[in-house]
Amino acid sequence: MNGETRKRPLKTLERVLSKAGLGSRVEARSWVHAGRVTVNGKVTRNPDQWVDMERDRVRFDDRPLVARDRVYLLLYKPTGYLTTYKDPDGRPTVYELVADVGTFLSPVGRLDLNTSGLLLMTNDNRFAERVTNPDSHVPKTYLVKASTLLTDAHLQQLRDGIELADGPTRPATVRRLRNSEKYTHFEITLTEGRNRQVRRMVEALGAKVLKLVRVKVGPIGIGTLPIGKWRLLTPAEVKAFKG
Ligand code: URA
Repeated sequence: MNGETRKRPLKTLERVLSKAGLGSRVEARSWVHAGRVTVNGKVTRNPDQWVDMERDRVRFDDRPLVARDRVYLLLYKPTGYLTTYKDPDGRPTVYELVADVGTFLSPVGRLDLNTSGLLLMTNDNRFAERVTNPDSHVPKTYLVKASTLLTDAHLQQLRDGIELADGPTRPATVRRLRNSEKYTHFEITLTEGRNRQVRRMVEALGAKVLKLVRVKVGPIGIGTLPIGKWRLLTPAEVKAFKG
């Protein structure tokens, strides 16, 4: 393709600003509204304006935008932390746990407030989109404590697919780990990531999830990382993800 017919890399101003590692999309919008951003020398107050980073000159607080290095990290999210940037009710968020990273990152997918475990965070939006897109079939493994003794037939239902309000679940890998007096501990690997999916699948069997920990996403396991701590992915891990 020659230069004329090649598609220009157009992005909205909001996206360009948040991608530069400066802050969240909500913050980016507020900066644009506040008149802190210029495109080709003119203040714009429209965060949805399309810009072409190969041609347009974007400045924030009169400084040119500089693309940041890509950062990929793995956080061991504890329960009780939201996977959002800010909570109107002031509850703790995962951003408090990664405040020392020094650049703005977005979570790769979400974990419920009461789910703990492996949460990837990055400023590489394309990576995040690929990992969370169900078409990518990236496996995610969870350890589950269910509130009743589930039979082998129940576990087989989880494997085969459960009819949920938003459609049947894909085939899953399920392994019973142990039964305690009245609980079932099992491991489940899903290749999709719907809202509260594991909880809803277990609820469909008439039980409740008492504990849910994500231990693996794609090729990356939680390993020995202490709860509440983060570490950067190694270049080899990022490469393994990208295939
Ligand atoms: N499934 C759930 O039900 N909750 C999570 O946080 C992740 C997967």
